[in-house]
Amino acid sequence: MTDYKNSSLTLITSEIIPSAIRWRSPSNIALVKYWGKHGNQLPRNPSVSFTLSGAATDTTLEYKARMESGEGADVVLYLDGEKNDGFTKRTKLFLEKLFPIYPFLKQLSLTIKTSNSFPHSAGIASSASGMSALALCLVSLEETLFEPFTDRAEFLAKASYLARLGSGSACRSVYGGAAVWGALAALKGSSDEFAVSVTENLHPTFQDYHDDILLISKSEKSVSSRAGHGLMEGNPYATARYAQATRRTDEMLTVLRQGNVDRFGEILESEALTLHALMMSSHPPYVLIRPNTLAVIERIHLFREQTGHPLYFTLDAGPNLHLLYPHSIAEPVKHFIREQLLYFCEDKMYLADRVGKGPERLEVSDQR
Ligand code: DP6
Repeated sequence: MTDYKNSSLTLITSEIIPSAIRWRSPSNIALVKYWGKHGNQLPRNPSVSFTLSGAATDTTLEYKARMESGEGADVVLYLDGEKNDGFTKRTKLFLEKLFPIYPFLKQLSLTIKTSNSFPHSAGIASSASGMSALALCLVSLEETLFEPFTDRAEFLAKASYLARLGSGSACRSVYGGAAVWGALAALKGSSDEFAVSVTENLHPTFQDYHDDILLISKSEKSVSSRAGHGLMEGNPYATARYAQATRRTDEMLTVLRQGNVDRFGEILESEALTLHALMMSSHPPYVLIRPNTLAVIERIHLFREQTGHPLYFTLDAGPNLHLLYPHSIAEPVKHFIREQLLYFCEDKMYLADRVGKGPERLEVSDQR
């Protein structure tokens, strides 16, 4: 067990110089899905994801000494320049959860300014990019106020651990390329507590893979991921599912190393459909895909049959489709999307993304 609890991380408040830290962190798309959790945000099965490039959250954490001592965390969060009560509440709870690890958070007044690269109305609001950006800001804050980390891997493992406490899938976003979260016998260093990078074992084909996100519906989903994870506890297929996901994460790592795009796609699509089948077999059951999701899936299958191109889809816990494919077929796929798929998207919108290099720390004054 990793134990980051550290009661000695407290400050002499009169010595704090108000300042700010800024990180941009991307979203990620799970290839093998995390679905089901227990204890303090621990996964029921290992998962593996690609970190994206374009879809990201830019977060600035401003801090100063807290004037009045109070019970909880002193924080206010602005989303796209506007104070957001919902996110402020969620962030306050998250920071309070971190008090045993970072007791100094009680001694600070924090202002968090956050914005997403994707339009707010796109319906893909990402807790993965948001929570990983905030976790990275917090570990950088620890470095600024206390000792710098001697090892970048340790810095990232801690950021991943903190991100996980905010949102499970967020722990995979602190690494570029591909990341695994969850203990796997075959993967040295892997853990349920934080993600590890598997980018070094990524075949060149996957290093710049495309992920085009088709926005089938921009509405808020009717059942949150949090509630969905909870429903796995009573799901009659849960045990078989966790064993399957473990085997698939293992196999997916081999596939990613070898560059086998067809086996990649088979696992990818089965994972998407399994995830939604689990929702449909929960008690109570629920359905998040829409008729247009199925219409697009059928067309993707047809496209594959007719062209032989390795274009495959996946789904998150919602109706929007992620289309994954190698760069070598970008031209015919873009054409196919424009000609045949945009019709099924709300406002004919899609977001073109790629596998990315991971989070970056930005200058606070740098307005990118
Ligand atoms: C379907 O990470 O959003 O995207 O831990 O409750 O915040 P919480 O859940 P969250 O679940 C993501 C589920 C998923 C699959 C995945 O990303 O692995």
